[in-house]
Amino acid sequence: MDNDAARATSLPGRDRVHTDSALSVLVRARTRQSYAARRAAQHYESRFGHWEARASVRTKPRRVLDSEMEDVLYFPPELFPVVTHPIVERRGSEVIRDILIRRLYDYLHFTSELEELAVIPVATKISRDRAGLALPSEMRMDAFKIVTDEAWHAQFSFDLLRQVEKRTGVPYRPAAAPAFVARLDAIRAQLPAAARGAEALLFSVVSETLISSILADIPRDARLPRAVRDVVRDHAEDEGRHHAYFREVLRRSWPALDRSTQRSVGPWLPEIIHAFLAPDYARIGFSLAEAGLAPAEVEQVVAESWPATRVAGDAAAAAHASVRYFREVGALDDERTRNAFIAAGLVRESDV
Ligand SMILES: [Fe+2]
Ligand SMILES: [Fe+2]
Repeated sequence: MDNDAARATSLPGRDRVHTDSALSVLVRARTRQSYAARRAAQHYESRFGHWEARASVRTKPRRVLDSEMEDVLYFPPELFPVVTHPIVERRGSEVIRDILIRRLYDYLHFTSELEELAVIPVATKISRDRAGLALPSEMRMDAFKIVTDEAWHAQFSFDLLRQVEKRTGVPYRPAAAPAFVARLDAIRAQLPAAARGAEALLFSVVSETLISSILADIPRDARLPRAVRDVVRDHAEDEGRHHAYFREVLRRSWPALDRSTQRSVGPWLPEIIHAFLAPDYARIGFSLAEAGLAPAEVEQVVAESWPATRVAGDAAAAAHASVRYFREVGALDDERTRNAFIAAGLVRESDV
């Protein structure tokens, strides 16, 4: 075990996403790649050529909440359906305002955790050429830039959370790790030992090819404070480049997995997408309880705000591009994998 692996395994399991064994799966796969395939893999078109002039960490200022604004929304209510539930509406506008502020806190906390627990570890391994992939050095160079971008995203998210807390007086109650960490642990536990850990790399592919569409609407929402919109815009602009990069990572990593690993992990891809996209029910319940709802009310509001059909429909819409990329690399050629995507509502039977 190298030093990094030793450090990683000394961390509490719930607070990190397992990347080391994912990468050892790929290291084994790498040895199977032919010399010709490795040569072919060298061609790479970087989207980071103007990174110095475009990356938000290089070009954007620290975003500061405007002290003039009083009567603003802190999160779009359309993206958080609990606030239109009659049980919550009856509590009045102050309670709804507090719930939306807490939703913004959770979004910002989720962002920091996603970067630090999921994406940075994977991008770091790629930058160090420890990902088991035969990548051109230009692609390793770009992984360093992604690590820098993501560290900045984590930092400015935490910075904005603290500003909003100070400004509004609504206390931030520290959260445990977001739901995706436990969901990924559960998926990992179901995988055969040889495939265990591949879920971490694939989760990065999923989150990095999904996040840019999730960030699309908030910057245009004039009801929100400018600093909130600017932070999300800064993030979205960087993520456009990351999206293309991780599509390329998938294009190179999926064929490098041996057939049995592909068959083991493939049927779990819809769950990996779900791990990223499904609401964090525990955290939402906590926020509603903080707002004064009784346990039975919390349960009712959450169940009625996210019926299973809505969760599945939202996921299918948001994951459209990621699903297409999995199809492009041949992941859905395997029958069990294809059936899992159909069962999850991510593809229609008529589409495959
Ligand atoms: Fe990011
Ligand atoms: Fe990213």
